[in-house]
Amino acid sequence: MSADLPLVLGIETSCDETGVGIVRGEELLVDAIASSVDEHARFGGVVPEVASRAHLEAMVPTIERACRQAGVRLADLDAISVTSGPGLAGALMVGVAAAKSLAVALGVPLYGVNHLASHVAVDIVEHGPLPEPTMALLVSGGHSSLLLVPDVTHDVQSLGSSIDDAAGEAFDKVARVLGLPFPGGPHIDRAAREGDSVAIDFPRGLTSGRDMERHRFDFSFSGLKTAVARWVEARERSGEPVPVGDVAASFQEAVVDVLTRKAVLACRENGVEHLQIGGGVAANSRLRAMAQERCDAAGISLRVPRPGLCTDNGAMVAALGAQMVLKGRAPSELSLPADSSMPVTAVQA
Ligand code: KG4
Ligand code: ZN
Repeated sequence: MSADLPLVLGIETSCDETGVGIVRGEELLVDAIASSVDEHARFGGVVPEVASRAHLEAMVPTIERACRQAGVRLADLDAISVTSGPGLAGALMVGVAAAKSLAVALGVPLYGVNHLASHVAVDIVEHGPLPEPTMALLVSGGHSSLLLVPDVTHDVQSLGSSIDDAAGEAFDKVARVLGLPFPGGPHIDRAAREGDSVAIDFPRGLTSGRDMERHRFDFSFSGLKTAVARWVEARERSGEPVPVGDVAASFQEAVVDVLTRKAVLACRENGVEHLQIGGGVAANSRLRAMAQERCDAAGISLRVPRPGLCTDNGAMVAALGAQMVLKGRAPSELSLPADSSMPVTAVQA
């Protein structure tokens, strides 16, 4: 039976992970990743030129490894999908060029897809078809958005997004203030387990009465980041030790509180009964726990992929590509661009 389902290889190179995933229909066969994260750590952020070069070196070996592990020959593939944007221009170009070459050489259709929609679609290989509509809270290093998703293959609507830093960016910047390594999200998550989340009352951006009128489903994390930095500086000036666990836990609580509060409100006000959380910050243990509590209380079903599928990977691109094929969407043109600022509402290039 499964032989009838489309076998799709997806390529992801928007940031620092070279991801190659292979999906048959809605089943994940392999998720191969090569990361250049260690090469960026000493700079405290991803260096675009270093990332592009690393993608170039990792691309062919990662495709070969994915095929070997899945027991798939390139000639068996029915389609190729690739992240067309948004992301780092040079990094995207490496994946797009590789995908075009494969599609031409194999004579199969090519789908250029949106990285953010792929973060939503990946949950299909974990928890089955997405309920339509689904509300998606997308929280990554570059984006924080609330999306109403009637159909992940062609209709993604933005209800709101961050007006300054992305949620992941805030985690990374606060981690730096606390002397924790890059990327900071997982380190804050870990440090927070030893701390008290009500120790410090950090601000919840865009939640006041007036802000809820003008920025109902938008987020702002830069004021919070500054508040944390000021608090830590004051502590250091007074010669007292910085309680890293308490700061991490209190900061994390502020982010997670706002994200989950607005996500549940968006579901309620739009009559949507299903919430999906995606993107690297969805790996956060406190976000997962608080979202579960608040969704249970509101009668909303919650879906969050396993942490390894929340951060960037190739499986998410293959998952969205396979949905495109299953839903009979037309392939992209071979001239499809690497679009570093592809809007979140454009699912396909
Ligand atoms: O989706 P992603 O892998 O890449 C982008 O598309 O940006 O997200 C990376 C972001 C980083 O900012 C990282 O610190 C954050 O996700 N992240 C986390 C956790 N794991 C990764 N943030 C909070 N808690 C985590 N456990
Ligand atoms: Zn991402």
